[in-house]
Amino acid sequence: MIVNFFLIIAWTQLCQAINTGKLQKHFEWNIMDFEYPDLNKKLNDMATGRLKPENALPVGIEIWNEKMFITTPRWKEGIPSTLNYVPIVSATKSPALIPYPSLEANELGNCERGLSTVYRIHVDQCDRLWVLDTGTFGIDTTTQNPCPYAINIFDLRTDTRIHRYEFRKEDTNSRTFIANIAVDLGKTCEDAHAYFSDELGYGLIVYSLKENRSWRFEHSFFMPDPLKGDFNIDNLNFQWGEEGIFGMSLTAVQKNGFRIMHFSPLASNREFAVSTQVLQNSSKTEDSYHDFYYLEERGPNTHTTSRVMSHGGIQFFNLIDQNALGCWNTIKSYEPKNIGIADRNDQELIFPADVKIDRNNYVWVVSDRMPKFLISTLDYKEPNFRVFFAPLEVLIKDTVCEDNIIIPSDQSNLYLTTDKTIFTNPEIYLSTKSEDNILQGILNGQVYPSLNKPLGKTDLLSQWNYRY
Ligand SMILES: *[C@@H]1O[C@H](CO)[C@@H](O)[C@H](O)[C@H]1NC(C)=O
Ligand SMILES: *[C@@H]1O[C@H](CO)[C@@H](O)[C@H](O)[C@H]1NC(C)=O
Repeated sequence: MIVNFFLIIAWTQLCQAINTGKLQKHFEWNIMDFEYPDLNKKLNDMATGRLKPENALPVGIEIWNEKMFITTPRWKEGIPSTLNYVPIVSATKSPALIPYPSLEANELGNCERGLSTVYRIHVDQCDRLWVLDTGTFGIDTTTQNPCPYAINIFDLRTDTRIHRYEFRKEDTNSRTFIANIAVDLGKTCEDAHAYFSDELGYGLIVYSLKENRSWRFEHSFFMPDPLKGDFNIDNLNFQWGEEGIFGMSLTAVQKNGFRIMHFSPLASNREFAVSTQVLQNSSKTEDSYHDFYYLEERGPNTHTTSRVMSHGGIQFFNLIDQNALGCWNTIKSYEPKNIGIADRNDQELIFPADVKIDRNNYVWVVSDRMPKFLISTLDYKEPNFRVFFAPLEVLIKDTVCEDNIIIPSDQSNLYLTTDKTIFTNPEIYLSTKSEDNILQGILNGQVYPSLNKPLGKTDLLSQWNYRY
């Protein structure tokens, strides 16, 4: 509560003072630093090369109460801790990272009790932090695998790890690289599934907490578009041509009890969708080709690695070629004219690496100049890493993502959409009277005549209430 109040005040003041972008800068670092329980150990680690702050890059963020979690993958040496947090209300704009839950619990190569490399993480409604340890050290050709891929779940109220699960051999392959996670809660905290996108091995791994079991989907929609592998970011030209399925987001639970997952390969401008009903069924792994759907392309220069969906159906995603945060209102069809720019900043938002929404509907973004870090070198005399936030409503204001449903007086003239938008707003279709038909239409990818039928005013109004 106090945190939230502080943020509202801070946000309002900043807006008045600067009045530029919608996103307000909350943290800013030239170089990351790590907090140690004991200064002697820190000095010793610096002397021995176990601490090299210039090798730390913030990649994933998550927010829980007064903590902001920040992950720093071990791509190079000298990263004492891969899972960290900072207090959101901090005396400085550049707080040192505090290892979470402790420095010891972040030990590289200690498979059972440590964490080797962590990318994106997720806090669920049951106050748990879901963390995938890739078990790796290095990047690309330097990658070593001291440990297997393992899911770690932490209880945020007690700061203890409550669960660990190692992926089966069959869940990964020799090319596997997983940097993203989505978590899907059912009716209880036990009834949870996590999804992991295998960017370079082209798979989607599902883990059921209740069953303590995992399985792997493969699909050609997980693969890159061979024409979309060229990138121009931060005045650097490079090719990430092999990068497949990356960012994932989940809608709210639909009337059929399942969510819709949207995902996009990194080397691609296209969006895909699948019902979690399919993903949660392990006997579907061999036969699910027709259960996956494709949407329109977003348009040129719309590579994206990270996305999140609000409860109200607004998807936010990083537009890494545009130094921007993109948005899409799922009530509208997925096509370039409905893809909005929530905010853009060519100086400070270079490579937005992760985007999250907290429980108060604030959207958070971290930017980290990753290509420059990987391909060239960062200048540590200037700010390189930044964390921004803004209220969701502010971000979508005056963009195409704003809710602007027109409810006409003459219901019979209301055609919400054409058959092209079949997957883009399942909630709307599910709230119409021909519910079963339309559900089938979504799940089977066929165009049903009922999609072009007028939607009743009452249906729309109840939909509106459901969303907000
Ligand atoms: C989950 O499964 C793994 C591997 O099959 C096993 O080692 C572990 O003990 C199980 N955990 C629980 C809580 O059942
Ligand atoms: C899982 O998929 C199989 C094969 O398509 C199907 O026969 C079965 O009914 C599904 N199970 C559930 C629980 O949906």
